[in-house]
Parts: sequence; structure tokens; C-alpha cells
Amino acid sequence: MGILAIFALPLLLLGISGIIHIYQSVMWLVSKSAVQNKVVVITDAISGLGKECSRVFHAGGARLVLCGRTWEKLEALYDALISVADPSVTYTPKLILLDISDINCIQDVAKEILNCYGCVDILINNASMKVKGAVQSISLELDKKIMDANYFGPVTLTKALLPNMISRKTGQIVLINSIQGKIGVPFRAAYAASKHAAVGFFDCLRAEMEGFDICVSTVSPTFICSYHRQPAAGNWEASIWKFFFRKVAYGVHPVEVAEEVLRTVSRKKQEVLIANPIPRAAVYIRTFFPELFFAIVASGIRENLKTEEEN
Ligand SMILES: NC(=O)c1ccc[n+]([C@@H]2O[C@H](COP(=O)([O-])OP(=O)(O)OC[C@H]3O[C@@H](n4cnc5c(N)ncnc54)[C@H](OP(=O)(O)O)[C@@H]3O)[C@@H](O)[C@H]2O)c1
Repeated sequence: MGILAIFALPLLLLGISGIIHIYQSVMWLVSKSAVQNKVVVITDAISGLGKECSRVFHAGGARLVLCGRTWEKLEALYDALISVADPSVTYTPKLILLDISDINCIQDVAKEILNCYGCVDILINNASMKVKGAVQSISLELDKKIMDANYFGPVTLTKALLPNMISRKTGQIVLINSIQGKIGVPFRAAYAASKHAAVGFFDCLRAEMEGFDICVSTVSPTFICSYHRQPAAGNWEASIWKFFFRKVAYGVHPVEVAEEVLRTVSRKKQEVLIANPIPRAAVYIRTFFPELFFAIVASGIRENLKTEEEN
């Protein structure tokens, strides 16, 4: 009885972790099979998140069309993908130059995309431009450029590829948005405005596409960390820190966001918010208690000004 009691807990934990492992492996296979042979277009495939999305969709056997505005970076991504993948279960990616803020070129780029395989199954609108600064310090010209890259660009590309999806009565459109498409924070006015506009457009599109079996998803991460900001491997203190606080201190790793994008596609989720408890709570406070949210943001700004004056 005593020996049984000693072994019961470790055996239970082992059993639970085994079940979790099997569940995760099965879900990964399900997600993979959902994108196998599908034509997947990723804009700004060379960004941190774009690269990871390219990797997971490529490994899943998707026929990738990778877009980006720098040819050398696209070629480097191409080399990285084909060097690690098994050629018998993956397709060689196609590369296309696309500057998402160059609205006048997008129709031609869309034709080029359609010429690759004759159709598009999944469009991942990932490209975006960031800007940080006080409203009065950002020129109206830059405000418009941000709006072109983050709103008119994805909208123009989506509209150009939509007739192909509608005629085939199938397709998925994913907008990589941001928590800043749900809440406005200081010094991010142009970016937040463009992300709010994009989410509004794609929410309406989702409803309109209901009759065509076209799924529209928005994925809104909080802060995606850079690789170089990860704690060093092999350092136990860093590992514990990583385990408990990584998401708060360093943001979410691009790999985790890419895997969530794959799950979003395979499960046809409509809206995903990737956020820790604090930013998640901020979204709810903004919705249900807006004045409390504005007061918290304002006190943060006052605190900042006070610290700056003291220094
Ligand atoms: N990073 C975050 O914390 C965060 C948080 C929430 C949401 N997101 C969203 O996640 C997506 C990917 O962001 P990321 O953080 O992975 O990007 P990133 O690694 O910071 O890279 C920025 C990318 O933007 C590209 N770019 C800038 N202007 C462009 C244009 N006009 N046309 C095409 N590409 C352009 C750059 O291309 P070049 O290298 O060629 O200049 C670069 O690849 C974006 O939609 C972003 O809004 C990011």
C-alpha cells in the first residue's frame, strides 16, 4: 500500500503528460492535414512571424506563395525552407515581390499569385508597417502610408483574390492584426487606427462570406518577441524565468504565434486574441468600463511625465 502510494503520484503525472503529448501530436497531424496541398499565400513572409508561418505551413505540405518586398531575403527564406524539409512531402515555394503599401501594383501582384497555381486556398495577410511617436510628431504623409500598408494594402489584395475564392466556393482569409486593433494606447495612433480599420473591414467581410463557405479569421497577438531577446539556453535561472514570466517580459515567441495561425486555419477559428492576462483584461475593461480604461492609460502617461521631469 505504502509503495503504491509513493509511485501513484509520479505514475499519474507520467500518464497525464503522456496523454497531453499524444493529444498534441494528434492535433498537429490534424492541423497539418488541413493545409496539405493547399495553396497558401503569406504576405511579408520574411518578417519574424512570416518566416515562422512559412516554416509551419511548408512542413505541413502546403503549396506556398511567399511574398515580401526584399528579393534577397525571400531567397534566403526559400533556401532555409528547402534545406530542412523532406522534398517528398513538401512543395518548392514560389516567391513574389510585394510592397504592400504600393497599392497601384497589388492588382498585378494578385495576377502573378494566381498564375502560380491557378487558385488560392488560404491568404494570410501578415504584412504591416509599424510606427511609434506622438501624434503631433508623425506627418500626415506617414499616417497615410501606414494606412496604405495596414489597411488599403490587405484590403486591395483580398478583393483581388476574392473572386477566385467565391467562384470555387471555398477559401480562408486570415488577417494578422494586433491587440492595438482593439485598444488604443499612447504614441501608436497611426498603427492602432489602421489595425482598428482592418479588423472592422474583415469582421464585415466574415459575415458577407458566410454564404460562400469562405472563412475569415483575425489573429491578434499582443507583443511578438524577437529571437535575440530570449533568455540564454542552459541557464537554469533563465529557464525558470522563461517558464513563468517569458510571455510577460519577452512577449510571445513567433513560433507560438505561427502554430496558433496553423490551428486557426485548421479549426476555422474566427477570432483569436493571443494575450497574457493583463492585456486581455485591458481589452475587457476597454469594452465594459471605458472610462476606467482611459483613466488607467492617463495615469500611466502622467507617471511617465513625472519620471521624465525628475530625471
Ligand atoms: N511584433 C509584434 O510585437 C507584433 C504584435 C502584434 C501584431 N504584430 C503583427 O504581426 C505581423 C508581423 O509582424 P512582425 O513583428 O513579425 O514583423 P517584423 O519582424 O517586425 O518585420 C517587419 C517587416 O515589415 C516589412 N515591411 C515594412 N514595410 C513593408 C511594406 N510596405 N511592404 C511589405 N513589407 C513591409 C519588413 O520588410 P523588409 O525587411 O523588407 O523591410 C519586415 O519584414 C504584422 O502584421 C504585425 O502588425 C506584431
